[in-house]
Amino acid sequence: MSPDFASLYTDHIAAMRRLADQALAANGFDHLLIHSGALNYAFLDDNAYPFKVNPHFKRWVPVTDNPECLIIYTPGETPKLAFYSPVDFWHKTHPVPDEYWTAHFEITPVGGIREAKALLPDMKRAAVISETAEPFAEWGAAAINPEGLINHFHFHFAKKTGYELACLREASLIGARAHLAAERAFRDGASEFDIHLAYLRAAEHNEHQVPYSNIIALNEHAAILHYQYQERRPPAEARSFLIDAGASFNGYSSDITRTYARERNDFQHMIERMNEAQLAMCAALRPGMPYADLQTIAHRHVAGILIEFGIARGEADELVANGTTRAFFPHGIGHYLGAQVHDVGGKQADEKGTPIPQPEAHPFLRTLRTVDVDHVFTVEPGLYFIPSLLEQLRATPAGRQVDWQRVEYFRPFGGIRIEDNIRVTADGHENFTRPAFERAAAE
Ligand code: GLY
Ligand code: MN
Ligand code: MN
Repeated sequence: MSPDFASLYTDHIAAMRRLADQALAANGFDHLLIHSGALNYAFLDDNAYPFKVNPHFKRWVPVTDNPECLIIYTPGETPKLAFYSPVDFWHKTHPVPDEYWTAHFEITPVGGIREAKALLPDMKRAAVISETAEPFAEWGAAAINPEGLINHFHFHFAKKTGYELACLREASLIGARAHLAAERAFRDGASEFDIHLAYLRAAEHNEHQVPYSNIIALNEHAAILHYQYQERRPPAEARSFLIDAGASFNGYSSDITRTYARERNDFQHMIERMNEAQLAMCAALRPGMPYADLQTIAHRHVAGILIEFGIARGEADELVANGTTRAFFPHGIGHYLGAQVHDVGGKQADEKGTPIPQPEAHPFLRTLRTVDVDHVFTVEPGLYFIPSLLEQLRATPAGRQVDWQRVEYFRPFGGIRIEDNIRVTADGHENFTRPAFERAAAE
């Protein structure tokens, strides 16, 4: 059954307005303006980069592909939307929308952002959230992107509304369909490029609609964490396949990784063990727990797998403490997910923006917050055979606990990552990704 987006959105926009009321009052503003964004052009050229909407804008309205729109909000009043709908025979323009969300706005078509001037409130009391300062500075805005206001929004964006959760579930379903198509292409012996195309076709996304560049990696390429290229020809032997690719719905994203082996070999067994470990990590998430604790849990699991597969000797805790696991799992366990793939607010202790100190053992984590109900995270443990990190490990005393011949066996497979999208509930979690794969497989 499809979600009732009309009623979910009604509650969502009410929640967005309440949040804006609080954020404006706390920061001494009377009005909020949110610009959808402007096109950016290649240097010395008239070619625009693909448009990426201001993420604040798409949280208010499900419009992701139209620059030069402006939301104008004053607490207690119906928000206004200046909607860019120019006369232009070069480009497709957007007719003024009439959908489930439009009754919540007073919509005025404009041929350019400057036409929105007629709708402006007292700009001396207005805060603007916009990538570009103009024309808002010229119009006398009190502040453009004031930090206190942005921090207030970002802190609260961590908790998703019912509408946002529904959008994230849809994004997971689209992503799962495309992942299944990509797996089929891998099993058929396709090149990385053809797998990428199979993914886009099944998602019905073009390259600019995927929420981040697809990572489509065969064999050793799976050891390159953000492998950004696609070989046009298939390798002589495709042993393994790592795909990290998402989808978007109303501007909300999924971020999904799967790893496959061609043969039933030790690498396939390792994928199965990582899959079990990943599910255990998802199950460990609880309201009240610091998200960074999951990083330590993940390292213990990775240590257990290294021992089980004869790659390292010793106790799990020792392999974590002496840096062995960091050589095989060198990234964070996950991040907030929402309107932004790496969603905001993960490092703030409060709505004022007080930073949470970064744990010494994990200086690069993106999410340090205490886990709460309706927070949405990725959980994405990995285990890779990355030549440069393995060389460093080999040069340390901890390297003596590693069976380097065993490492050589696994190296041609590149590595494993498994990534699901998880919503935390009062007594556990909801996994968006697993049921999406089941549903997509049954279609
Ligand atoms: N796809 C980027 C990430 O997993 O964070
Ligand atoms: Mn990912
Ligand atoms: Mn991710």
